[in-house]
This record gives sequence, structure tokens and C-alpha cells, in this order.
Amino acid sequence: MKTLIPKEIKNDFPIFKRKIHGKSLVYLDSASSSQKPKQVIEALSNYYEKMHANIHRGIYTLSEEATLAYEDAHRKVARLINAKFKEIIFTKNTTESINLLAYSLGLELKKGDEILLTEMEHHANLVPWQQIAKRVGAVVKFIKVNKEGELIVDEQLFTKKTKIVAVTHISNVLGTINPIAEIIGKGHKVGAKVVIDAAQSIPHMPFDVKALDADFVAFSSHKMLGPTGIGVLYGKQELLEQMTPFLYGGDMIKEVTLEDSTFNDLPWKFEAGTPNIAGGIAFGTAVEYLTNIGMHNIEQHDKELLKYAHEQLSKVKGITIYGPKDLKKKSSIIAFNFEDIHPHDVSSILDTEGIAIRGGHHCAMPLMKILNLQSSCRLSLYLYNTTEDIDALVKALEKVRKVFK
Ligand code: ALA
Repeated sequence: MKTLIPKEIKNDFPIFKRKIHGKSLVYLDSASSSQKPKQVIEALSNYYEKMHANIHRGIYTLSEEATLAYEDAHRKVARLINAKFKEIIFTKNTTESINLLAYSLGLELKKGDEILLTEMEHHANLVPWQQIAKRVGAVVKFIKVNKEGELIVDEQLFTKKTKIVAVTHISNVLGTINPIAEIIGKGHKVGAKVVIDAAQSIPHMPFDVKALDADFVAFSSHKMLGPTGIGVLYGKQELLEQMTPFLYGGDMIKEVTLEDSTFNDLPWKFEAGTPNIAGGIAFGTAVEYLTNIGMHNIEQHDKELLKYAHEQLSKVKGITIYGPKDLKKKSSIIAFNFEDIHPHDVSSILDTEGIAIRGGHHCAMPLMKILNLQSSCRLSLYLYNTTEDIDALVKALEKVRKVFK
């Protein structure tokens, strides 16, 4: 089978030249973190070799160049998701973006207010809300998940008391694509602010914040070909203007007296201290790389490969696949178990064949409990994966079987 994105794309990713235990690397863990093309790696070294200085501070060439490049990266991200420049805040990662929201929106919550989450959240979109709720006496409620790992969106959960709805777009465990447009609509109907954890979706498909009418969206650079340590919080401008900053000092300041301070304009109001300048600039390069290929093409490629992986894995005796059976409801992630072999054992034997998958609870313990699982194997696909990667996995699973016979 030929996939939409040619396999030669792997040549852009230096890591694929590496041998792992003498075997070619088969990387099937992009939901955890993606690999990086040489363009992104070069953007990092180019910045440090030719441009480094602090931003927004120096009236000299280097500082001005660094400032322009860092600001330009915000513009590239804004264009990717159809946002305004002022609405793109660079954070450390998705987790920090959600913590910022939980802190800042949490200041507006009162005792008895409700925060609505789902049972399938990554810990990053659960624990910050749990902690804020404890502090202010708010109540956390959950949209339930059925046995196929799909949400049961019950209208009655949305009440006048619901102030925040925070939902993952795509489950990082099962790949379930959630009906976020419907959830955003229901949240707005009761006057709630809606937060979307898009860490697993924006790297894989076109995403339009305006069309969705999302209030806040969080995602990470490292899952979409960019460096680690840089992430995004999108927020509607009027909401960000009203919000209290999360971190104070440095670049987020306008004026300070010994008694009080005023804060910088968006987006800098939420970017305290010297930011990850190199990471931000190289993230811009990653976004450019993805945009050149086309988010529609990436989505299509991932879909074709997901279908192929499902077909091939389903033929392997002893495999149990979790999540939606209808592949239209599923993105590029497959959670599975093999015989009764522990996922850590499966993963480490696959590693001897150069194959990287993730095994464990995937930072979503409550979901695992609902699915009656301690842990699972998880493969996740991206634009550089090929049908040969899936074939290699299927072949290596036979080795796993032999070891445990
Ligand atoms: N959130 C990442 C994952 O699901 C780390 O693997």
C-alpha cells in the first residue's frame, strides 16, 4: 500500500539513520513525543550560532533579530490555528498552559461552582482542576466514557453552575476523536468557558479556533516536530485581557512602583521572564514544515496508516485492541494488549528489534480503571511512519510470543 506522504520524508529526520540494537529505528511513539526534522534542528543551532541575545530588551542588532524571529514564530502558530497574534501565548508545554488556566480562571470560581471534565483526560487536564476545586470548594464533574472509549455527552451535566468545561480533543490513550464542537456549544449555552486540550490533535489535522469558537486551546511543540520545553496557550483576546497573570516578572511587566505594577500587552502579559527563545523560533520552523506538507495531507496519511495498522494487527492472534471500532472516530493512536504479556515486557522485547512503542498507564489512570486495565501497549503514528513500520511491528510481535511461550 502507498501512503499519501512519500517514505523519502524520513530522510529529513536524522534520527532515522540511527541503529537501535543493530536494527533500523521504527518509531511508533509520536503521541508521546515526535521526532525532529533537520530544518528544526538547524533552526535551533542557527539561532545560537548567529542570533542569540535576549528579546524585547536590547536596542542592538542581535536583540532586534531575536525579537523579530520569536514574534514571527507566534505569527506562524496563529496562522496555523486561525488565531490572532495577541492570542498566542508561548508556555513550556500543554501541562503548563492548563495550569495557567486553572490558576487564573480558578481565581474567579466560588464554592459550589462546577468544573466539567471527562473521564478520559490526561492527568494534565485533570489534576490542575482537581487541585483548584479543592482550594475554592468547587465541584468537579465528569462526562462518562463508554466501553468503546467514546464520550456519553449527557446534556444534564451542563448546568447554570458549570463555569468551566475542559475536554481533550483526542484521547492520548485510545485515539478517540471527541465531538468538541458539540461540547463547546453545550458549554456556551450555560455560560461556561470551554478549554480544549489539543495536544494530540493539532499535530495531526487542520484546526480552526474561530470556526470551533473554542475559548482556550492548549498544545505542545514537541508533539509536532518542534523542540521540547515550548507549548501554546490560545485564548480569545477578550478573555485573556480580563484574566490575571499566572507568573510575574520580567517581560510581562509594563510599569512597576514599590507599591504596585501594571502588566504588558498580550501575549507578553502571560510570558514572564526570559522565555525559551530558541525553542520558540524552532517551533515556528516546525509549523512551517507541517504547513508546507499540508495539515489535510497529514490527516489523510495518518488515517490511511491507521486503517492499515488496524487491519494488520487484527490478524495477529492474541491481540486485543481498545477504543472506537469505527475508525472515523479515531486518530493515529492504537492501544492494545498482546496475549497476557505485560506491556512493559512487550515494549522491551520490541526495543531489541529497534521498535519504540509506549507501555503503561499513559498518564490517564482513571481511564485505565474504567477500561478495567492496569496498563496497555500503545502505538502512535505520524507523517514519517510507513506501512513497513507496521509490518516490522507485526513481525516483531511473533518474536515476543516466542519469548513468552
Ligand atoms: N502525553 C504524552 C503521552 O500520551 C506524554 O504519551
